[in-house]
Amino acid sequence: MRLDKLLSNMGFGTRKEVRVLLKKGAVRVNDETIKSPAIHINTDVDKVTILGEPVIYKEFIYLMMNKSQGVISATEDSKDQTVIDLLDGEAQHFKPFPVGRLDKDTEGFLLLTNDGKLAHNLLSPKKGVPKTYYAHISGVVTEEDAISFAEGVMLDDGYVTKPGQLRILKSAELSEIELTITEGKFHQVKRMFEAVDKKVVYLKRLSMGPLVLDEEIALGEYRELTTEELDLLIETSGA
Ligand code: URA
Repeated sequence: MRLDKLLSNMGFGTRKEVRVLLKKGAVRVNDETIKSPAIHINTDVDKVTILGEPVIYKEFIYLMMNKSQGVISATEDSKDQTVIDLLDGEAQHFKPFPVGRLDKDTEGFLLLTNDGKLAHNLLSPKKGVPKTYYAHISGVVTEEDAISFAEGVMLDDGYVTKPGQLRILKSAELSEIELTITEGKFHQVKRMFEAVDKKVVYLKRLSMGPLVLDEEIALGEYRELTTEELDLLIETSGA
C-alpha cells in the first residue's frame, strides 16, 4: 500500500495533509526519513513511525458497545442520534457499522465493525449465533411460557420462531427473565412475549455468540475487543 494511503487510512489526515507531514520529515520507514508519498509499504514487515511514534496498521476495527436507550442502531439517521455518533473520530475513521440491530429503547451488547465478511457470517441465519437478552416483563411469566418458547411460538405475522431458551429469574406481576434465541427477526423478543400475552417493558442484550457484555462499559460507551474476544468471534463466524 502507498505510504500516503496507509497514513491517511490510519487517521493521520487527508492524503494532502499527510504529504505535508512527509515533507516536514516527520515520517520514518525502517529508520529512514521518507518524504515520498508514493513508496510502497509492506504492512507485515515495514516499520513506520510518525514523530517517533510507531504507526500500527490495521484494516479492521471491532468494537463492543453498551448501547444506551434513545440511540438508533444505524450509521445515519435524519432525526435521532445513531450508535456511530457515539464513537470518537478515530473509531469513526474506520467507517464501522452495527452488526445487527437493537431497538431504539433496547440497551446492551452491540458489536460494531467494518469487517463486512465477519458481520455477514455472524448474522447468517445458517449460523444461528445465539443472543441472550435480559428483560422485565409486564405479566407473570410461567414455566408454560418457557415450554412454549422451547417449542417455538407463532408471531403476529404467522412466523413460528426457532426454539428459544427462557430462564425465569422472577415470576411476578413484573417478571424478570433471560431469553436466548438463535435468530434475529424484527422486534423478536418483544413479539415472542406478545405471542404469550405479555409485554416487554425493559430489554437489554447480554451476549452475542461467545461475547458477553463487559459491564465495565458504561451505557453509551464502547471499547475495542480484546485479542481473545476477537479470536472467539472469528472462530464462531467461521471467517
Ligand atoms: N428483540 C427485540 O424485540 N428488540 C431488540 O432490540 C432485540 C431483540
